[in-house]
Amino acid sequence: MLKKLNLFGVLVLAIFTILIILCLPSSSSAAAPDKNIPPVVTPRGRVRCRSSQYKGCHLLWQRCPSTCPTTCVVDCATCKPVCGCNYPGAVCQDPRFVGGDGNIFHFHGRKDRDFCLVSDDNLHINGHFIGKRSPIMTRDFTWVQSIGIIFNNHKLLIAAKTAAKWDDNIDHINISFDHNPISLPTHEGSMWQSRIGTLVSVSRTRNTNAVVAEVAGSFRVSAIVVPITKEESKVHGYNITDENCFAHLELGFKFYNISDMVDGVLGQTYRKNYVSKAKIGAKMPVLGGAHKFVSSNIFATDCLASRFGKNVVLK
Ligand SMILES: *[C@@H]1O[C@H](CO)[C@@H](O)[C@H](O)[C@H]1NC(C)=O
Ligand SMILES: *[C@@H]1O[C@H](CO)[C@@H](O)[C@H](O)[C@H]1NC(C)=O
Ligand SMILES: *[C@@H]1O[C@H](CO)[C@@H](O)[C@H](O)[C@H]1NC(C)=O
Repeated sequence: MLKKLNLFGVLVLAIFTILIILCLPSSSSAAAPDKNIPPVVTPRGRVRCRSSQYKGCHLLWQRCPSTCPTTCVVDCATCKPVCGCNYPGAVCQDPRFVGGDGNIFHFHGRKDRDFCLVSDDNLHINGHFIGKRSPIMTRDFTWVQSIGIIFNNHKLLIAAKTAAKWDDNIDHINISFDHNPISLPTHEGSMWQSRIGTLVSVSRTRNTNAVVAEVAGSFRVSAIVVPITKEESKVHGYNITDENCFAHLELGFKFYNISDMVDGVLGQTYRKNYVSKAKIGAKMPVLGGAHKFVSSNIFATDCLASRFGKNVVLK
């Protein structure tokens, strides 16, 4: 009996020793933990519905489709992960829009300028474009670096911070409300709220680089910060160098209270009788008329297409 136990003990010890030897090389080669990197709670490429209205879906993890591992969002109603850039209200990549009418078009604007994306009586959204001059084309390659949202005399800014090298564990989102920075702890689900007649909220949908902002009864926007990768640079000829990875926003808007007089690059596509001005069916339909949409700064409501504060009655 004693002998048997001893044999068992030796076996256990042997197994432990083998396990330790097996584990040693990997633990000694792992990088020392960086104090600035938050603990990873969110599984990579996964999202979940955080709205408690959707009982069957609330907090259930969903795996992102392989075509959009970083920009997928969860559709709480169907309880499915979807590619946010393919839905009406999307503003992604070198700005590629999906209009309220479902049509896809590009709007290049110009680098280092602001353009009104949506302009309605009580909601105005500008986008700040960053980019590079293309050596071959006569236009800039552009991306949306930040959005300035104006409603009820309030101002909400969601911006991507400039970065040289991309590290998805480091947060690159800069948010401010009425010019005061909002600090959101870097973990999925952390939330900031303000009740200013209507409820304004911003919450993280991943530990870093992804938030959802909502103004109750008005709109909701999902904003994800992504870099231009080496592959994209190669495929599109962006010529991205090591000084700047052109961190920008991939956006998905939902509007709850838009009027039929709404204008702006994206806004106009929500009108009932909107006829697309981009060449639909072209390989890359492009919307022109940039002069109509230029704003003098990120919170200016002075683009020619502006409808802000014009008190239209049409609904
Ligand atoms: C964040 O935004 C504020 C304006 O709200 C700006 O002053 C600040 O420079 C920004 N920080 C970074 C790192 O971009
Ligand atoms: C909805 O739209 C109307 C008309 O533009 C506006 O007066 C009202 O403030 C909007 N509601 C919200 C919650 O923004
Ligand atoms: C790429 O960018 C660098 C620096 O911005 C510039 O010196 C170089 O000429 C560019 N190359 C091409 C092919 O555009």
